[in-house]
Amino acid sequence: MEAVSVQSCGRSGGIVLTDNWPGYSLDLFCYPAHYSGDLDCVFIPHGMIMDRTERLARNIMDELGDNDIVVLCVLKGGYQFCADLVDRIKALSHNSQRSIPMRVHFIRLKSYLNDCSTEDLHIVGAEDLSFLAGKAIVGTGKTMKALLEHVQAFRPQMIKVAALLVKRVSNTWAYLPDYVGFEIPDRFVVGYALDYNEYFRDLNHICAISEAAKMKYKI
Ligand code: HPA
Ligand code: MG
Repeated sequence: MEAVSVQSCGRSGGIVLTDNWPGYSLDLFCYPAHYSGDLDCVFIPHGMIMDRTERLARNIMDELGDNDIVVLCVLKGGYQFCADLVDRIKALSHNSQRSIPMRVHFIRLKSYLNDCSTEDLHIVGAEDLSFLAGKAIVGTGKTMKALLEHVQAFRPQMIKVAALLVKRVSNTWAYLPDYVGFEIPDRFVVGYALDYNEYFRDLNHICAISEAAKMKYKI
């Protein structure tokens, strides 16, 4: 009999999708008809995202100690993950001995055009972040390094970063979040609020975008 190995997590702490991960056939799932022809496969099904998020919420609660939470959601791509994570933390908090006060703030970052990082990170629509002083923060989203420097200047008590996805862009990560949902190959994915030029945010699963769609929605 062939040995089967189950890989629970990689160096990132997230569930590992290997470089040869083919994804699931689109025929096995439901997705909006207006995206037919635009996707190659379902990379991470929505239910799997939700289950993993529930566990991240528990890990966060376990490590929070006596701190309150100020959530800093990184828009736009992080909105769905943030909403679902906050939801799960809320549920755990309300059912625990110590109900934890939680506030949610938003910051908007933009660094991608088509499927390329533009290097120049814009912090758009940032609120005055001075309320962060002495608070514990759980950030969600990507493009984190520059943002962290920005946030650290406000001297919060504790900063934790939760990211649904980290990509294996090379063997070394410039920055690894404290909580990672999935570690994925270096390919462009869409859905679950992640976009390609603002399309695909309305897709529940995380999917691989087709080459045809990259042309179709190019700007
Ligand atoms: N998809 C959507 N937005 C992104 C990605 C991606 O794979 N990587 C960085 N921003
Ligand atoms: Mg984007």
